Amino acid sequence: MPTIEFKGKSFVQNHHLAVPFHQLVPDKKKSLTDNVSLHDNLIIHGDNLIALKALLPTYAGKVKCIYIDPPYNTGNEGWVYNDKVNSPIIKEWIGHVVGKEGEDLTRHDKWLCMMMPRLKLLRELLADDGAIFISIDYNEEHNLRILMNEIFGESNFRNIVSVSRVKKNIQEKELMRALNFGYDSVMFYSKSDSCLLVPPKKTQKKLERWHAFDAPGVRPTMEYDLFGYKPPRNRHWMYEEARANEMIAKGLLRMNPTSLKPQYKLEESNETLIDTNWTDIQESSSKWNFPNGEKNVDFIRRILKLVFSKEQNAIILDSFAGSGTTAQAVLELNKEDGGNRKFILVEMEDYADNITAERVRRVIKGVPNSKNELLKQGVGGTFSYFDLGDPIEISSILSGKTLPTYLELARYVYYTATGEEFNDSNLNESKNYIGKSMNYDIYMYYKPDIEYLKTTALTLDESRNLRKKAGKRPLLVFAPTKYVEQTELDNLQITFCQLPFEIYKVKG
Ligand SMILES: C[S@@+](CC[C@H](N)C(=O)[O-])C[C@H]1O[C@@H](n2cnc3c(N)ncnc32)[C@H](O)[C@@H]1O
Repeated sequence: MPTIEFKGKSFVQNHHLAVPFHQLVPDKKKSLTDNVSLHDNLIIHGDNLIALKALLPTYAGKVKCIYIDPPYNTGNEGWVYNDKVNSPIIKEWIGHVVGKEGEDLTRHDKWLCMMMPRLKLLRELLADDGAIFISIDYNEEHNLRILMNEIFGESNFRNIVSVSRVKKNIQEKELMRALNFGYDSVMFYSKSDSCLLVPPKKTQKKLERWHAFDAPGVRPTMEYDLFGYKPPRNRHWMYEEARANEMIAKGLLRMNPTSLKPQYKLEESNETLIDTNWTDIQESSSKWNFPNGEKNVDFIRRILKLVFSKEQNAIILDSFAGSGTTAQAVLELNKEDGGNRKFILVEMEDYADNITAERVRRVIKGVPNSKNELLKQGVGGTFSYFDLGDPIEISSILSGKTLPTYLELARYVYYTATGEEFNDSNLNESKNYIGKSMNYDIYMYYKPDIEYLKTTALTLDESRNLRKKAGKRPLLVFAPTKYVEQTELDNLQITFCQLPFEIYKVKG
């Protein structure tokens, strides 16, 4: 199978393994629940490379659908390469905005270096019968396809869907360099053969869908008076005036009586399409005034329905969350069919709270969007908001500067030692118990207190106590040190792991 070569590849191929586990720190004020938990709908503020790694202990192999909308690398998004990869060429890239075609000779290398470790972590999070959908355009589609073949396997390539995009007005130009791009792509891969799609049910009823008639960008020929209004600043109407008049005559363009904004109607029902040509639906939307490429809720709903109309408890992950469209699609679909799907969003910008989470709050509570369009009633639901905390690293544990909480270290130790999902409801800190894996009962003697760590040891008495409680199951015990002979531990079927050095002992 052909593979893709790019600058920096040898350094990023295994970078996801070197990324340290970080603590996920709950923020009650920003959450919309009394019960903040990693098992709720989640909004995580932080870089997705770190956030995805931090999700592994709880969600590895559990996510049924991933939708991502990464920077397309157009040269206009201002995205910055920021991963702390240990390589001289890559260090030079850090913190710089990735430039335009022709001006930045490593722009595609940087993009691929950014995507590769994230795609590897996403694959680890995906369930065996799960699917991943990636929005992309001509700038990186060809590179992404080969990279995905390499990471997910060529046989797991399922399709590329075309979705209509806002077309540029080229009528004014005398000559063009390239054709107008009418479509963006959505690349679809599965993790294995066991992912099967659910064809949409045919519906007799044609759905009436009205969409805002304005689009981003300055196009003087498309800024005419319509129903007595000009388009908002830095926006233009979707079509030329003559076409708009024809649409009005056919009843396809109207003034929305509530928002007083022009809207146009899409004629097709979107419920019967099962091929890769989704030209009846626009990929982007501008309902929430999000400047960075907000997607259309109906487009994401279509993806979710395709994969999950029967799977109503699925976990859906979007690690480039932006304005949070994926969360709205999940919540609305749950409301519609009584499902219990959950979303996990990751957004690194500071607007994770005041745009991403705020939109989700409004969808849940039923407050109008920023264009003052009335939303349907609130759909109900909760979410928990987390920030990324300190890394859980041997060096930081040893220096004692940033000691993780009991729960965070337990989550990390349990997952790294067993490779199995950690379930915090089994944890009992007062009994030093962190859970039961397939092969062991696991205990951890730890407090985020350097004095405790210097003075605590697994003793012979304690080892015998543990053995009595555990019946016949082998025990795995993490503690700062031990005062008990190895032969005694062997007799008691206890594997001792010294904190923090031997966290990898069992699995590795
Ligand atoms: C194109 S927008 C996504 C728009 C989204 N689909 C919507 O409908 O609003 C990409 C988003 O990914 C975020 N992003 C980019 N790199 C990221 C990273 N490394 N970690 C987390 N978020 C990131 C950007 O801040 C931006 O909000």
